[in-house]
Amino acid sequence: MVQDPKIQRRQFLVGGAVAAAGLGLSGSLGGYPAAARKLKYGVVGAGFRSRDAHLPILRHLVPEVEIVALSDITPENLQAGLRVCGGKTVGYADHREMLSEHPDLDAVIVVVPNYKHAEISLDALNAGKHVLTEKPIATSMADAQRMIDTATTRGRILEVGFEMRYLAGNARLAELLRQGAIGDLEYVHAALLRGDWNPRSWKYTDPVTGKRTNWRYLRVTEGAALLEDGIHELDVIHWLVGAEPRKITALGGNNVYQHRQTLDNAAVLIEFANEVRCDFAFSLFTPIPDGVHIRLFGSKGMMELEGWMDVSTPQAVLIQPYHGKAERIPIPRYTTPEERNAWVMSGTDEEKIAWPQKETATTSNAPDGKKIVASSRSQLIVASYRMHQAFVTAIRTGKQPFSDGKAGMDAMHISLAATHSIRTGKVLDWEDEEGL
Ligand SMILES: NC(=O)c1ccc[n+]([C@@H]2O[C@H](COP(=O)([O-])OP(=O)(O)OC[C@H]3O[C@@H](n4cnc5c(N)ncnc54)[C@H](O)[C@@H]3O)[C@@H](O)[C@H]2O)c1
Repeated sequence: MVQDPKIQRRQFLVGGAVAAAGLGLSGSLGGYPAAARKLKYGVVGAGFRSRDAHLPILRHLVPEVEIVALSDITPENLQAGLRVCGGKTVGYADHREMLSEHPDLDAVIVVVPNYKHAEISLDALNAGKHVLTEKPIATSMADAQRMIDTATTRGRILEVGFEMRYLAGNARLAELLRQGAIGDLEYVHAALLRGDWNPRSWKYTDPVTGKRTNWRYLRVTEGAALLEDGIHELDVIHWLVGAEPRKITALGGNNVYQHRQTLDNAAVLIEFANEVRCDFAFSLFTPIPDGVHIRLFGSKGMMELEGWMDVSTPQAVLIQPYHGKAERIPIPRYTTPEERNAWVMSGTDEEKIAWPQKETATTSNAPDGKKIVASSRSQLIVASYRMHQAFVTAIRTGKQPFSDGKAGMDAMHISLAATHSIRTGKVLDWEDEEGL
């Protein structure tokens, strides 16, 4: 089916190669010999994502790295994080103290609420560290640009935590698309239909009222719901389409969780410069376990990734041509011993880091407080492991990774434009950056 690749009528950009070339990092390795010693990392943030993914992955699966220091402003989270690190890591309440006491750190991983990504990343970049920040890169265009500029002038790597770019199935989708498996891409139908945010998220204390509120419910700390989630899918769509958005519009609101500043559902429409159009549905109150879809419709057929959210179904790329039989191209869940270990690793606490073969599931919350169970978690941990490997490679080679600052800023731009459209009722052009 894909033996006869044809030249696409539209340009297809593969990842961050263009952005990487523009950043001119080659040879800028800070003076240490490639692969000669372990890289020293400091991690900022020891909440759910850090203890669930970054810390156990770095400790158990990435031998090129040692976690020298960890910082978190919440003492119990810091202690829990230090236990996941396993002994030698030094803890700090303030990331600036961590940076000043460890001038030998090579890199900093930023895993804190969104409103602090830019500030902490800039502190680290200005101290000469490479940075892997969780998504979103920032909560404003100006901050994201400042981060990219600082990484460029300092010759440092800036990676954004888009692990869905490192899902093997998404990489295969991109490859098949480029090879013409469905002809020219014309339309994308996508959704993130999930349960609610984690109710145990860190609580922000309003300096005026003294009231403590889940950081994901507030604009000042989350930025926007579409920045916190949905941004993964919007990033993958942008990468697959391979062109800049031309127009973005959206409708959205709070139908279920009405006391919040951040919305619980949205419908986003995007038109890209190559005339591909996309609809993207977002909801926080959907009781189905497999609510992430990216369906690609081309001039010759349809294609999507199957089975990555549900371990009972084999993972495959489904290609359904308009004429002829459907084809399923199998995608292995892991291909190396390290990826297999990432697959079986589970739990947010150190006791639960299970090396026996325990299948794991994602849970999220329904409006009635009950759990919704999906099984994408293991796949995403494998992808997060690959993302960390990409960061190590980027540091060693001096070349920006696939999920670089530009990818982070573009995806953030789409999320902010959609949110702005919901607030103002306007259709935004890609050049309309006022208020973003
Ligand atoms: N890539 C993914 O799939 C994924 C998944 C979940 C979360 N995330 C991202 O990870 C980040 C953290 O999310 P989470 O779920 O771990 O949140 P969380 O609420 O569980 O943890 C946040 C932690 O940050 C700490 N913190 C707050 N301000 C700090 C500061 N100034 N310095 C140091 N520590 C500080 C808090 O004490 C808390 O321990 C967010 O940006 C989120 O978007 C990414």
